[in-house]
Amino acid sequence: MPSIVILGAGAMGSGLANALVRAGWEVNLWGTWLDDHLIDAIEAGSPHPRIDVVISGKVTTFRSDDLAKAMDGVDVVALSVASAGVPKVVELALPGISKAQALWMTTKGFLPAEDGTIQLLPAGVRAIAEEAGVELPPIVAIAGPVKANECAADEPTATIFGCKDKDVAVKYAREARSDNYAIEPSDDEVGVEVCAPMKNVYAIMLGIADGLQDKTGHPHHNLKAATFAQAVREMSILSVALGAKEATAYGLPGVGDLEVTGLSGRNKVYGSRIGRGEGAKTALETMKELEQTVEGVPAIPLAVNLVEQTDASLKERMPLLFAAQQIVYEDDPNYADVLAQAVLPPRP
Ligand SMILES: NC(=O)c1ccc[n+]([C@@H]2O[C@H](COP(=O)([O-])OP(=O)(O)OC[C@H]3O[C@@H](n4cnc5c(N)ncnc54)[C@H](O)[C@@H]3O)[C@@H](O)[C@H]2O)c1
Repeated sequence: MPSIVILGAGAMGSGLANALVRAGWEVNLWGTWLDDHLIDAIEAGSPHPRIDVVISGKVTTFRSDDLAKAMDGVDVVALSVASAGVPKVVELALPGISKAQALWMTTKGFLPAEDGTIQLLPAGVRAIAEEAGVELPPIVAIAGPVKANECAADEPTATIFGCKDKDVAVKYAREARSDNYAIEPSDDEVGVEVCAPMKNVYAIMLGIADGLQDKTGHPHHNLKAATFAQAVREMSILSVALGAKEATAYGLPGVGDLEVTGLSGRNKVYGSRIGRGEGAKTALETMKELEQTVEGVPAIPLAVNLVEQTDASLKERMPLLFAAQQIVYEDDPNYADVLAQAVLPPRP
């Protein structure tokens, strides 16, 4: 029976725990110092407070002080904390990670290096390990259209495991598969890791089109669809510029995840508030009051920096990303026009 420790008992870590129990894995779930209330609920057999699904009694839970015990002897370590927690949690977990056969990551985001360079998550984690003189096992980037609640509840779910070593991706895609949790193996780690945070940015823009419908009483489906197409194009442009395969953005981590994120979720909800006219700054404050982290917001300037450091000429081909910056960070009151101009094809 393969074994895993999942680091982070939030929505996704706990959703993955349920999926792996169904696939016959032995699962340890470690909660960070922010997760005691979540571990309390899991241990009590109550629905997980973030996803309203009960976590299997076969999952063994650990609190933050018990990290070494949680990692002892496992085959795989999965990183499922929010991107802000990655440096600290990886640093603490390095001794255990170095003994594992693979490091999986469901976390989505970019990591700025000390010199300000923007790194994709695996590169950032490799840099942390290198600094500490620790050798990492293969990294498996996990993404795709996966809402943690549905995954936890055994609804049909398709995901992608991206690893530079395709054999490793295939091995885990086989071992973690259950009837309703299906995994596409890929060797395009970079493509998976570019799409994952970028779709959060673009989901905000899809939300704006929904909010415009609420505001005006008229559907803005054409605008939303044009936004969707441009978002996918931009994910593909950036992926290819960073050495990924073009097809990845048109598959599960790009189109697939953008669809599910644009249907519901915190980024889309935030965008809808902007679209309704609440103002980007005020809407973000409201989201914070509701304890709703909008991951796409911090991703915008990081993505802009990544584009500029990769190839400044990409800017012209990625107007939607720069429109997101203008709307969210400059709180542009003409957000409807800014969005439309970014996604409508120019006059030929
Ligand atoms: N929820 C989903 O459907 C889903 C799906 C796929 C991927 N993801 C990704 O998985 C990651 C976790 O998302 P989630 O939905 O589980 O979020 P969550 O808010 O439910 O849980 C966040 C986890 O990160 C930890 N964390 C947060 N800030 C931290 C900090 N500063 N230091 C240390 N630990 C910290 C928390 O303790 C918790 O374990 C995100 O990158 C998200 O994009 C989420």
